Amino acid sequence: MVNVGILGATGMVGQRFIELLADHPNFEVTALTASSRSAGKRYEDAVTWHLESKIPEAIQDTIVVDADPGQVKDVEIVFSALPTQHAAVVEPKFAEAGMKVASNASAMRMEPDVPLVVPEVNPEHLDLIETQQRKRGWDGFIVTNPNCSTIALVMTLKPLYDQFNIKRVYVSTMQAVSGAGYNGVPSMAIVDNLVPFIGDEEEKMESETLHLLGDFDGTSVTDANFGVSASCHRVAVLDGHTEAVFIEMEDDFEVDEIKQSFSNFNGLPQKLKLHSAPENPVVIREELNRPQPRMDRMAGDGMAVSVGRIRKDQAFKNGLKYILVGHNTIRGAAGASILNAELINEIM
Ligand SMILES: NC(=O)c1ccc[n+]([C@@H]2O[C@H](COP(=O)([O-])OP(=O)(O)OC[C@H]3O[C@@H](n4cnc5c(N)ncnc54)[C@H](OP(=O)(O)O)[C@@H]3O)[C@@H](O)[C@H]2O)c1
Repeated sequence: MVNVGILGATGMVGQRFIELLADHPNFEVTALTASSRSAGKRYEDAVTWHLESKIPEAIQDTIVVDADPGQVKDVEIVFSALPTQHAAVVEPKFAEAGMKVASNASAMRMEPDVPLVVPEVNPEHLDLIETQQRKRGWDGFIVTNPNCSTIALVMTLKPLYDQFNIKRVYVSTMQAVSGAGYNGVPSMAIVDNLVPFIGDEEEKMESETLHLLGDFDGTSVTDANFGVSASCHRVAVLDGHTEAVFIEMEDDFEVDEIKQSFSNFNGLPQKLKLHSAPENPVVIREELNRPQPRMDRMAGDGMAVSVGRIRKDQAFKNGLKYILVGHNTIRGAAGASILNAELINEIM
């Protein structure tokens, strides 16, 4: 077993890490960190638990410590669910201390020597780790996963990008409140309402998508070259981001070819049979009223993206449109970091 720690263990994403790692065949949670408000307390006393599952027994009595590598002993991998501004300071300290950091935070994602990875999409970008360690003189390293709405989008774009010429992508999101953390969106702002703005989200979706699909030459990534336009909105759903996707292709296509492309899609995690890898990363729903967050967010134990209403868009030449749903705190956050760590554990 590999000993692992969780940075930001009391937050929304931190709780998902604990839930998903509870019976993990390769990883054992031996360290939990949070802010100084929680440090020194038993986990059960420090956390306000929001998930339907119970706090795993083995975790309840664990004493939460400060996010300081000196306080996290005998740990090989740390999963980071820190707020971005703290991640920028704390994650490099853990990497410098020799630990492998699998991060959810956006702080280091677009650094040229930090891999931004979705294992089914661009596992080869992990080779950047060597450059990172050489350049920064670290024994450990930082690997990141993209923002929650980007992950779901890019898992559906990858098979299309490999098979067709994408000219432009427009995406309009309907994002769950858990994506903002427990205290993120006041109930008075979201009940009977929709908030048509999520800070920095559109910029992240536009830049991270092109980076993930970019070419890696062994030392650096050149971003993919097509237009991405995102409009991001918060809706009164607890978990599960929905996205309406509109794509302009260079060439004509048949809807059946698109469906084939989605249903044939898989990657290294499926070939290696990694513990958290969904059998089918993209699940097609044929019902006219699917996918829906409440019904489809747990597809593939929350690690698959569900796609439906796949149809031609007559407003563009060679236009395609579809709807997708992905679980934002599983595939879009904790599960994504865990899959990255499983892949690293297997191949490095
Ligand atoms: N929620 C999602 O769907 C989602 C998806 C993708 C990525 N992310 C990213 O994941 C990260 C965590 O998000 P979240 O929604 O879980 O946030 P959250 O619920 O606000 O949790 C934040 C965690 O960080 C700890 N923390 C706060 N200030 C700290 C400090 N100064 N030093 C050390 N630890 C500190 C908190 O501990 P205390 O309990 O002691 O305050 C808590 O454990 C963010 O970077 C977010 O952007 C979230």
